[in-house]
Amino acid sequence: MRTNTWRINIVKKPSINTVTVKNLVNFLLILAAILLIITALNFRSLSKHAIENQALAHAELVRASLTAHMKGGIMDKRDYYMEEIKSLHQINRLRVIRSQEVIKQFGKGRDDENIADALVTKVLETGKHLFESKEWSYTPSMRAIIPYIASSKGRLNCLGCHKVAEGAVLGVVDIELDISGYRNHSLYVLAGMTLLSLLFLVLIILNTRRTINNYVQTPLETLIDHAMEAYRKHTPVCLEQFKTREFTNVAHEINLFNADVIAHQEMLKEKNRELIALNDEIESTLRETIYTMGIIEEQRSKDTNNHTRRVMLFSQLLAQKSGLSENDIDLVTAASPLHDIGKLGIPDSILLKPGRFTDEEYRLMQNHTNIGFSMLKHSEREILKAAGVIALQHHEAWDGSGYPQGLKGEEIHIFSRIVALADVFDALHTKRIYKEAWELDKVVAWISEQRGKHFDPALVDLFLQNLEEFVAISNRYNNDAPDSALNGNGPVPAGD
Ligand SMILES: [Fe+2]
Ligand SMILES: [Fe+2]
Repeated sequence: MRTNTWRINIVKKPSINTVTVKNLVNFLLILAAILLIITALNFRSLSKHAIENQALAHAELVRASLTAHMKGGIMDKRDYYMEEIKSLHQINRLRVIRSQEVIKQFGKGRDDENIADALVTKVLETGKHLFESKEWSYTPSMRAIIPYIASSKGRLNCLGCHKVAEGAVLGVVDIELDISGYRNHSLYVLAGMTLLSLLFLVLIILNTRRTINNYVQTPLETLIDHAMEAYRKHTPVCLEQFKTREFTNVAHEINLFNADVIAHQEMLKEKNRELIALNDEIESTLRETIYTMGIIEEQRSKDTNNHTRRVMLFSQLLAQKSGLSENDIDLVTAASPLHDIGKLGIPDSILLKPGRFTDEEYRLMQNHTNIGFSMLKHSEREILKAAGVIALQHHEAWDGSGYPQGLKGEEIHIFSRIVALADVFDALHTKRIYKEAWELDKVVAWISEQRGKHFDPALVDLFLQNLEEFVAISNRYNNDAPDSALNGNGPVPAGD
């Protein structure tokens, strides 16, 4: 019968739920990371652009205001204006730096108006504005440096005052904004987005896990359990418990398959019963045939009535007492009736001769052992093979003085040793046409005397220890008991 071993072996493997959730987590984490990086880069770019524009707007406002001061002839008020601008929120530093042409013409001005660092110098040289960002600093800032270009066009003609060429850079406005607010805001937004993404991720995972659990894993495990149950108890799987069409269909197919298996099993059981009955019939027929052959031989030899039956029962009893296996007990019991089957090949003139045999007649008579073996040796049936060995060896003696091969001790098959003792005990203890029955004491004395000579000493010991049982069989199936070939007192079944 099938067991759950296969389930025990796979118990360490991950479930569908685990594998799916693991893969989903990996996928979503990568997706979330990519989206967050793209968003962060984009957001940073937009923020930076906005800050740059703000810085640029502040610088241009300053430049325009200074131009207005110049036009209004109130340049002496510009310091006040500059200080006011500087005091505005988010402006760290604000200054105007003169070009060398302006310094030559109007002097160095205030201390901070002639200090040009690398960026300022570059703007003075190129006339193009520049930005410098320090967004990862502890005090993040954005610096904008815009040129003041000399122009004769427009409402203010710069060249009217400045002795420079058209398009020359008169100076720069250098403004630095505090962008910590922007940066912190950006970080807060990014942190919020990350948290929202993680929350969304968790919700997706929980929902996926619940869906797979409800619609795949649990129904699948239920299906497996019920399929096993159906296999063991032949009960159908209940279709109503499955929520989806696919599992219901699979359960239905299992039920159909199971019904087929049950039908086949029943058919096989019936066939098996028929085969067992047929085999029993064949076995029984074989045993009865063997027994009947023994009776036929017994009748032809004009042997004592019931000799075959008694030898069979004595052999069975000795085999049991010897501790042989059930199969061996059965074999020696079933095969013993054929021990003298070879006598069918002995002429009546010898077999039925009332007087003593001549030497030649005795030699011919002894040959019934070889004839019996020849009759049976070709069979592949266990019983007939055992019968062949018994027919050949049942006149062998423990000390090697027997015939036809003069075998000794355990060279003689145990079946043959058993039948030899059973056969001789019956021959001595019952009346024959050529002799009276010996008294039991005389029989016991003779058999005891033949212990280790004619007979296996161990078998003689067992025989003597259980003498009452042998005598009981002998009395029950004495010469006057009805012929027992196929009547209700037939052969004792194996192990009976
Ligand atoms: Fe014999
Ligand atoms: Fe016999």
